[in-house]
Amino acid sequence: MRWIRAAGRGLLVLVVVLTGYVSSGASAKEPAGDGRGPLTLATAGDLTGYLGPLLEGWNRAHPDERVTLVELPDSADETRAQMITDLRRGEAGRFDVLNIDVSWTSEFAAAGWIRPLPRDRFPLDTFLRPVVDTATYDDKLYAVPYVTNAGLLLYRTDILAKEGVAPPRTWAELESTAKKLAPKYGLDGYAGQFLPYEGLTVNAAEAVYSAGGSILGDEGERVTVDSRAAREGVGFLARGVREGWIPREALTYKEEESKQAFQDGRLLFLRNWPYAYVAASAPGSRVAGSVGAVPLPGPDGPGTSVLGGSNLAVATHARHPDTAARLIAYLTSEPVQRQVLTRGALPPVRAALYEDPELIRRFPYLPTLRESVLAAAPRPKSPHYDQVSLVVQAVVHDAMTGRQTTEAAVRRLAGELAAVSAR
Ligand code: GLC
Repeated sequence: MRWIRAAGRGLLVLVVVLTGYVSSGASAKEPAGDGRGPLTLATAGDLTGYLGPLLEGWNRAHPDERVTLVELPDSADETRAQMITDLRRGEAGRFDVLNIDVSWTSEFAAAGWIRPLPRDRFPLDTFLRPVVDTATYDDKLYAVPYVTNAGLLLYRTDILAKEGVAPPRTWAELESTAKKLAPKYGLDGYAGQFLPYEGLTVNAAEAVYSAGGSILGDEGERVTVDSRAAREGVGFLARGVREGWIPREALTYKEEESKQAFQDGRLLFLRNWPYAYVAASAPGSRVAGSVGAVPLPGPDGPGTSVLGGSNLAVATHARHPDTAARLIAYLTSEPVQRQVLTRGALPPVRAALYEDPELIRRFPYLPTLRESVLAAAPRPKSPHYDQVSLVVQAVVHDAMTGRQTTEAAVRRLAGELAAVSAR
């Protein structure tokens, strides 16, 4: 029988070697050991290409704890789907640290895919106030804020200055300037991100919030969308398409396509995140030197942005949790957060950077952005957030294409959200 045991041991060794071989690279889940070792970091598309070089700095200093960047598609929805597929594989999953959209924290935490983190390991009190809330669920910290975001209204300073028109503060001003001036200069009036995906949920929520409404209350358990304010917000977007000051083409725009339209000189006004301001102002952009940014307008004055951005979370089955936490501390340190802005054109979470005169000189929209982030409203918090977002996108898109009246769309939205919440 000894040979059988020996052969058995041989087989075991072979299996281990093979497993090691097959899953070499980033996918092997070694035992945690002392919690230190190589990791993968999964993120949505790095639109400004800054993250790889930034991680090189970490890798040079930590040769035994190297991070492999896994870049997923640039649409928030596709990234989420790929992350979930991986996390569901449990120990066989490949992702250790995940750069997750702020709107996914509740869902990922409730599903047990990411682990609670000790608050005292991270400098949370140096962050802009609203961002920490997006990283907590059930009173526990499940991720660490990494990048924040708020929508801004970009406009063509050259055209507005020539016409002696101030940048719009209200929807009425935006509409009338878009209607009057855009055709005069051969431009489209206004666009945001109106393809049915997370970006449309953001744009729709901003319109509803700006009119004083809300979508869900009580941590997602109450549907509050059936209101005059929601009709006003959805009506604003639907009217734009109907009247032509929002081009129909914008119904297919995500962040990148809308940024391109503005940067090519085809749009007078654009709602986008600040990275679009940086891209449109950079050499090579047709409108460089003619880009201004103001807070999003609302019905009677400044509107409300949705709080965007992303948080760093650690997968429940991460291979090296201690390295994961150390990497997160590094990525949220002040020098790296400065690079997130200067190289990545993304809004950092560290509050002090927004008051740095040198940075304000280089990024003149920083004070406006700071105000917009501080006043921004989170998306509805719900363990079923994915369903909530799908319903909002689909219904608002139907209202914008004219398949449904605003009135009918808002009623349908309330009904479908109630069905989701009852699940
Ligand atoms: C940006 C925001 C994110 C949002 C996404 C929508 O990436 O930072 O929070 O969900 O856009 O497209």
